[in-house]
Amino acid sequence: MADHAPVTKAVVPAAGLGTRFLPATKATPKEMLPIVDKPAIQYVVEEAVNAGLEDLLLVTGRGKRPIEDHFDRAYELEEALRAKDDPERLAAVRESAELGIVHYVRQGEPKGLGHAVHCAHQHVGNEPFAVLLGDDLIDPRDPLLQRMLEVREQFGGSVVALMEVEPEQVSLYGCAAIEPTSEDDVVKVTNLVEKPVPGEAPSRWIIIGRYVCDPAVFDVLEKTPPGRGGEIQLTDALMTLAQRDRSQGGPVHGVLFRGRRYDTGNKLDYLRTVVQFAADRPDLAAEFLPWLREFVAKHDED
Ligand code: UTP
Repeated sequence: MADHAPVTKAVVPAAGLGTRFLPATKATPKEMLPIVDKPAIQYVVEEAVNAGLEDLLLVTGRGKRPIEDHFDRAYELEEALRAKDDPERLAAVRESAELGIVHYVRQGEPKGLGHAVHCAHQHVGNEPFAVLLGDDLIDPRDPLLQRMLEVREQFGGSVVALMEVEPEQVSLYGCAAIEPTSEDDVVKVTNLVEKPVPGEAPSRWIIIGRYVCDPAVFDVLEKTPPGRGGEIQLTDALMTLAQRDRSQGGPVHGVLFRGRRYDTGNKLDYLRTVVQFAADRPDLAAEFLPWLREFVAKHDED
């Protein structure tokens, strides 16, 4: 049944500690950091909904209450905006509460992405599901998740999203050994290596924060020992599935993504993301861009 079941559920892990962003993330989840005026995780949830996945499970943990409040109604705020006759801001406040059905599960201890995904087992059951990392943004103009869902339909098993990076960057990520398929933008994943030592990376294609997982991943995760950094890695479980055939929850394919992706989980990429989003905003660009040009020119002179 699982092999033919359509994907209807999206799991968004957002229980990590966000240590790269301290002290900002001491009391604020990193997934709630604003990209201009919307928290990063809202873009991610919107992407899932736009791909037709309206059953959303957010994996949260200690200190992540603001995420739950954000996707809930805010009656006092709504009343205040109604009284002020401010329909635009009222719509903005209500939007995040009306995106879809949002469920929550708590990851008691942040024991890694694989462990966070395993926390979704009871909610997801024996169906394939999507995983979207709460701090990783894909530009809506470059749809990726839709393509990954098509690839799951065609090939079964699990699907990862791959992006090509410079050789010196590979050791920062999970990296895939790949073989071509009949589709230009799809490869078969033959192996996965989490943060390979420089020189030992099987390719320049790294895994980014979108996955479509066969439910067989849950059994594998249960048996996956903690890997690098003492965390249970999703990459390790997918590596096991990559060795299997379709009757056992395999294989793993990769979609080669050449679009725009924004990592908001580290400071430098976060800053780049905010600037790029602001530059694309019709209500801000006319004032922001000339200021930015002048700022950079002046900065270069100093
Ligand atoms: P990261 O690898 O960015 O880890 O997680 P992190 O712990 O949040 O951040 P740093 O490295 O300490 O700065 C990628 C995604 O997986 C989630 C995170 O919330 C983030 O959205 N995650 C990670 C969990 O849900 N649980 C975990 O145990 C680890």
